[in-house]
Amino acid sequence: MSELLDKTDKRTKYCGLFTSDDIGKNVCVMGWCQRQRDLGSLIFIDLRDRTGIVQLSFNEETPEDVYQLAFRTRAEYVICAKGIVRHRGEGAVNKNMPTGEVEIAVSEMKWLSSSLTPPFAIVEDSDVRPELRLKYRYLDLRRPDMQNNIMARSRITKLVRDYFDENGFIEIETPNLIKPTPEGARDYLVPSRVHPGSFYALPQSPQLYKQLLMLSGFDRYIQIARCYRDEDLRADRQPEFTQIDEEMSFVTQDDIIEINEGLLKKLFKEFLGIELQTPLPRMTYAQAMERYGSDKPDLRFGFELINISDAVKDSEFKVFSGAVADGGSVRAIKIDGGASFSRKEIDSLTEFVKTYRAKGLAWYKQTMDGAVSSSYAKFMTDEENKKILEKTDFKPGDLLLIVGDTKNQVVFDSLGALRREVASRMGLLKPDDYRLLWITEFPLLEYSEEDGRFYAKHHPFTMPMEEDIRYLDSDPGRVRAVAYDIVINGMEAGGGSVRIHVPELQEKMFSVLGMEKEEYENKFGFLIEAYKYGAPPHAGLAFGLDRLCALLMGIDDIRDVIAFPKVQNASELMTGAPAPADPAALSELKINISDKE
Ligand code: AMO
Repeated sequence: MSELLDKTDKRTKYCGLFTSDDIGKNVCVMGWCQRQRDLGSLIFIDLRDRTGIVQLSFNEETPEDVYQLAFRTRAEYVICAKGIVRHRGEGAVNKNMPTGEVEIAVSEMKWLSSSLTPPFAIVEDSDVRPELRLKYRYLDLRRPDMQNNIMARSRITKLVRDYFDENGFIEIETPNLIKPTPEGARDYLVPSRVHPGSFYALPQSPQLYKQLLMLSGFDRYIQIARCYRDEDLRADRQPEFTQIDEEMSFVTQDDIIEINEGLLKKLFKEFLGIELQTPLPRMTYAQAMERYGSDKPDLRFGFELINISDAVKDSEFKVFSGAVADGGSVRAIKIDGGASFSRKEIDSLTEFVKTYRAKGLAWYKQTMDGAVSSSYAKFMTDEENKKILEKTDFKPGDLLLIVGDTKNQVVFDSLGALRREVASRMGLLKPDDYRLLWITEFPLLEYSEEDGRFYAKHHPFTMPMEEDIRYLDSDPGRVRAVAYDIVINGMEAGGGSVRIHVPELQEKMFSVLGMEKEEYENKFGFLIEAYKYGAPPHAGLAFGLDRLCALLMGIDDIRDVIAFPKVQNASELMTGAPAPADPAALSELKINISDKE
């Protein structure tokens, strides 16, 4: 029995905004019934919209039909109510509610919609299965915490746009149907009807277009850009996500860093009220790996990696000495106060490092009363044990966690992840303690054992460091790039590079990546040609907007700052996307599905 709005039904104010200043005013409110309480001769309805809740009250003075309607109103019914604002009366004031001093004595009311009983309560922090939340995402988004997240994201996006506008950037849209040119992840492909057998790709980022816009002379570009990557999902990854995408001409790495520090300063100040100290610290990739085992170190806690290879290289204990002899290393992290970790907890840390391909985790601990236990000490000489403890500055009460491997990467990956895991278990990951830094001098290339070839670590358009260009042929793995990431609390919030703008160097880069001339001409001929028409030096960066929002809001999972996210297997639970296509559409596209498995 729902009714339509008529011309006189004009909302005076959002529910959450009523104060004692409104007392005595005739008002009209609209929203959802949070709950209805029937106290016999008195009925209350908490009416909710995106700003909060206001109390509607009904009593013996309320017209009978209105009272009856209030009596039958249930949670999530949509209501339009008119009445007069009044003080709740001493004793009835709710100090926990912004509108807690007042209520609306209703004289007219309409049901605009009724509602089924929702599958979960529309309240903050409700403990609901993620799958259920996502299936009924439109209800989940009614919850006040989700409403706040989505509105906060809108505020952050506005601050970003304002900042770049103030700094002379031009917002330009680039296409979403582009030529497939994989950047690292798999492309999402879109079949062309007009060109059967040909496909567009959805952009993994606007990379090439923004570079070409620099050639066109736009000089400072920004776009809040949708990007699509068919890759495995994690808490900080979605198949479609948003970048704050930027590019500038006639600049160096320092200029990009400076403009982005300005952006971060503004966001921290205006969104969080925090005065960010700039310039931010910088660390090279090599330093970051050596000290933290990660190119996105979390600096909120210590537990730095300590190389103990020298202390163990001659040991009888082959797990350690063998790793060093075969070109790897043995490294430790010291957990101050970690002696309180039980055997069971240490065992679970061992399982944890195994997921990073470590073969095991060696450990040593000493309680405050001197009792020592260790997984490896008995295999070492006293002298060797002493050296390890000296090297790591070990004190009673501490715990040493050690990984040795013939591959340094395994040692770095496992200890890098372990330090964060231990910090998390010790409750050291405070979301409101912000540690930002730049990582610079990334390797230009990354070798894939599996494919027996090099891949671009950032993307193939990144400029090698000038002093390393000479190694491009002889020792490509050693070449560093003018590439940089901004890392916040152990998360890669953004990354970018100075670009190659010289056609010969770009061609060289493609060939280092194992492409024949014909292949790169075919894939990137338009780019090489463009560079022959006066290319300015240029550089840029892209932030992950979803990640940045999550960080600024102290949220772990980026799904909580995305209105309609996808789940682990890349489907969307509410609509059921993806779905089989209509056979007629497929036949028009000349697509034949051969094997559904
Ligand atoms: P990159 O691939 O490093 O660089 O991406 C930039 C930033 O985008 C975010 N990001 C993601 N966020 C959510 N889900 C994902 N699947 C995802 N993948 C990446 C990260 C990352 O730091 N064109 C270059 C930028 C440039 O060189 O200017 C690029 O896309 O926060």
